[in-house]
Amino acid sequence: MINFDQERPFDKAQVEALLDVAFGPDRFSKSSYSLRENVGPVASLSRVARVDGRIVGTVRFWPILVRDLIRGSDMEALLLGPLAVAPSVQSHGVGAELMQRSLAAAAEAGHRRVLLVGDIAYYGRFGFESVLPNYITMPGGRDARRLLVRQSAAMKSLPAVGKILPAIPERIAPAAVLAGGYGRGLPVAAA
Ligand SMILES: CC(C)(COP(=O)(O)OP(=O)(O)OC[C@H]1O[C@@H](n2cnc3c(N)ncnc32)[C@H](O)[C@@H]1OP(=O)(O)O)[C@@H](O)C(=O)NCCC(=O)NCCS
Repeated sequence: MINFDQERPFDKAQVEALLDVAFGPDRFSKSSYSLRENVGPVASLSRVARVDGRIVGTVRFWPILVRDLIRGSDMEALLLGPLAVAPSVQSHGVGAELMQRSLAAAAEAGHRRVLLVGDIAYYGRFGFESVLPNYITMPGGRDARRLLVRQSAAMKSLPAVGKILPAIPERIAPAAVLAGGYGRGLPVAAA
């Protein structure tokens, strides 16, 4: 039986091992990883799937900013990922369950805009769509064509020309950092 719950600090080693299997040891060279340097995942949204205590699935979220390069303003968002499921249990709905549970938790916490870098063929079923024709780049200008967004209809549109930045604590309200949280007071833990 597969159980789904929040990632705990002592899960880190197993989660990292699963990510190595899913993405390979060079995963840290991906542009999305540069958004995670010096910033922890949003601990309250990190979810894992377990079979007999062994972690077989993981999903995490990171605080980011989308900078409007024309207006010079920033909007807060979450970057979803990595999402990974152990090869032994793939295609049994574990990925979908992690996506649905974590996105519901994000919405419950008040997050209305989530971005990720991935395949629309998989993530489209969870309400993600391409950011195109908006021209929004990742650090290093990479992966823009695979950048997807899921946001509520009431949200302000993404900038026509923008870039993704890490939401390092200095860029977030000092009060939120002192309180140990991001944005709406969510706790942030080291990865
Ligand atoms: C992508 C991944 C998380 C899906 O997990 P999962 O538990 O197998 O997903 P689900 O059971 O919910 O869905 C499986 C279905 O999605 C499909 N699928 C998986 N990856 C896909 C992709 N990149 N594009 C399109 N479809 C995909 C599978 O073929 C499968 O289809 P089927 O139901 O017709 O057999 C898993 O395959 C994985 O860890 N892959 C390696 C890491 C990775 O690529 N992560 C995503 C980028 S962040």
